[in-house]
Amino acid sequence: MSVLGDVAEKLQNAKRVAVLTGAGISAESGIATFRGKGGLWERYDVEKLATPRGLKSDPAYFWEWFEGRRREMLGAEPNPGHRALAELEKLVESFTLITQNIDRLHQRAGSKNVLELHGNAFTIYCPRDGWRMETYEPLPSIPPFCQCGAVMRPDVVLFEEPLDEGTLRSAFLAAENAEVFMSIGTSAVVYPAAYLPVEAQRNGAFLIEINPEETPLTAIADAVFQQKAGEILPKIVEKLRG
Ligand SMILES: NC(=O)c1ccc[n+]([C@@H]2O[C@H](COP(=O)([O-])OP(=O)(O)OC[C@H]3O[C@@H](n4cnc5c(N)ncnc54)[C@H](O)[C@@H]3O)[C@@H](O)[C@H]2O)c1
Ligand SMILES: [Zn+2]
Repeated sequence: MSVLGDVAEKLQNAKRVAVLTGAGISAESGIATFRGKGGLWERYDVEKLATPRGLKSDPAYFWEWFEGRRREMLGAEPNPGHRALAELEKLVESFTLITQNIDRLHQRAGSKNVLELHGNAFTIYCPRDGWRMETYEPLPSIPPFCQCGAVMRPDVVLFEEPLDEGTLRSAFLAAENAEVFMSIGTSAVVYPAAYLPVEAQRNGAFLIEINPEETPLTAIADAVFQQKAGEILPKIVEKLRG
């Protein structure tokens, strides 16, 4: 049987499916990845833009960059890969989409059960009193301030910060219970997210990887598509529909 046919059959027979996505699934929407060729960290200073220290020492610089990224994400559209995953959710009894992305493109494509491991770019909160808001509008000031006078921060996980415990627990639960686990567009080197596919497979899941480049998962995955997510995912869903 072809790999595509095999994968469609596994999905067909699975009651519980979990998916992990990374920056690669949004690449075809025009959003830059972090590590790959032309990735953000080739062009920008991680220390200043993605650490709690950077935010604290120069909030205006941090927010000017971050607001630019927010506008870029809002200007982008979900691509066929995002849309195929939203379709797949409707075909599976229990479906959990775990994403490392902060761009909200999965939700805009129609995905419902989404765990945002790294938060999202559109919720901002006050680190002093916890006041939070969701906003898709251009920020009224850079940096944005809370009524209490403190500088607000985005509800994203910065470098060196821990992930939200509850979200992480739910993600591991979904991975451990999954009969099929798909790792899509992630370099699979950022922990703890990179443990999810490994844990899933250890607990019996059929592990599928979609990534045009090789990762540490490529050698252990049960099926590998070295292709763009936006090209192969619609084909998988089409095949599944039979
Ligand atoms: N869109 C976003 O929200 C966004 C953008 C950049 C980075 N991030 C952050 O990146 C960090 C984690 O790293 P990561 O693994 O998500 O990204 P990464 O940049 O480390 O890796 C991206 C991976 O996607 C692959 N890829 C590129 N184009 C692809 C395509 N069309 N289809 C499938 N795969 C493709 C690359 O080969 C690479 O392995 C997280 O902290 C996440 O929050 C998020
Ligand atoms: Zn405040």
